[in-house]
Amino acid sequence: MTATIVSPRLMRIGGGSVGQVAEVLGLFGLSRPLVVTDPWMASSGTVERCLEPLRQAGITAAVFAETVPDPTDTVIEAGVAAFRAGDYDCLIGFGGGSPMDTAKAIAILAAAVPGQKMRDFKVPATADKAACPVLCIPTTAGTGSEATRFTVITDTGTDEKMLIAGLGALPLAAIVDFELTYSVPPRTTADTGIDSLTHALEAYVSKRANPHADSLALSAMRLIGRHLRSAYHKPRDAAAREAMMLGAMQAGLAFSNASVALVHGMSRPIGAHFHVPHGLSNAMLLPAVTEFGLNDALPRYAEAARAIGVATTEDADQVAGSKLLEELRALNQELGVPTPQGYGIARETWEGLLPVMARQALASGSPGNNPRVPDESEIVALYRKVYA
Ligand SMILES: NC(=O)c1ccc[n+]([C@@H]2O[C@H](COP(=O)([O-])OP(=O)(O)OC[C@H]3O[C@@H](n4cnc5c(N)ncnc54)[C@H](O)[C@@H]3O)[C@@H](O)[C@H]2O)c1
Ligand SMILES: [Fe+2]
Repeated sequence: MTATIVSPRLMRIGGGSVGQVAEVLGLFGLSRPLVVTDPWMASSGTVERCLEPLRQAGITAAVFAETVPDPTDTVIEAGVAAFRAGDYDCLIGFGGGSPMDTAKAIAILAAAVPGQKMRDFKVPATADKAACPVLCIPTTAGTGSEATRFTVITDTGTDEKMLIAGLGALPLAAIVDFELTYSVPPRTTADTGIDSLTHALEAYVSKRANPHADSLALSAMRLIGRHLRSAYHKPRDAAAREAMMLGAMQAGLAFSNASVALVHGMSRPIGAHFHVPHGLSNAMLLPAVTEFGLNDALPRYAEAARAIGVATTEDADQVAGSKLLEELRALNQELGVPTPQGYGIARETWEGLLPVMARQALASGSPGNNPRVPDESEIVALYRKVYA
């Protein structure tokens, strides 16, 4: 088997590194960025953490702050218009996965031929071209989007969260500064942290796993397994925030070079139809989906349990696998993850959408990478199982 490995050309990692944003742009000869962020980042002043060091270097950056959670094709079109209205030589995605994905998608759509829409790029199509380089600066320890070749955009016509993949979505550079995450509230810390854990676990058990992605996935699981609870309970815990940020980035590199699997395949339709935050819908599914595939990749799940720190080399694989399931359930309990019912989704609405959600999950291709590949009826059964 051959593996294709991609990653940003440069990653500047560490506390305070956002202060070096102008220098990083300068390394590539870039100086006219459009900063893509969300309304909260702008109104809270957080975006100044990026704008101020640019200003000090003589760069007055324009800001596009219309990103929405689970970014939509219509917001991307507005972003392309803003990009074309100025003389920009790059985009900076500053924020959680939503602003970073918006910046990537703007770069892809701005390079499209006239008439092409965002949906023309969803998998299995590829999005290899970008109109300009993208620099990503994450402010959540979650998606790893700063290091992946993906962007996830919602089609407002069909309410489908589309996976878009290709070199056009791969950032040129990333600045990974954990100090930006101190202000993330506990709920979002939990959701984004479980998202990263899911990236690492799914990359590790994926049918497309490879030795390079494995090493990153294992390292990410070690970091996240030991630090997620502390980051959730103690937002100012520097060691926990730093470990989570590094783990999220490594998990991003891992799944970008292997793949995600059934949890993500089933999670996107929940996000699209019910606007459940991405990491939270992953968390709702993670224990049941792990149980579904456990025996089809038992040695891998067992090794994951050891990396997370809930099993040892003394434990036989079956024991370690059981400990992994216990840990995923305990983590959801401790981090206050509700069921879809507990989240307020009505049973009739849930039931009514299950066939559509199952078809959308399968169409994304992600379930095909799972150790146990489900058919439509098994996906419906899993959605039913997690509901209450
Ligand atoms: N491209 C990829 O590889 C990839 C991978 C996983 C998920 N995603 C996508 O990323 C999106 C989710 O990203 P996310 O989970 O980071 O959430 P998000 O970007 O939607 O942010 C969630 C909330 O946290 C707030 N926030 C962000 N940083 C903060 C900070 N430092 N302090 C306080 N508040 C802060 C935001 O303003 C927002 O209200 C989804 O659309 C998901 O599909 C993409
Ligand atoms: Fe994710």
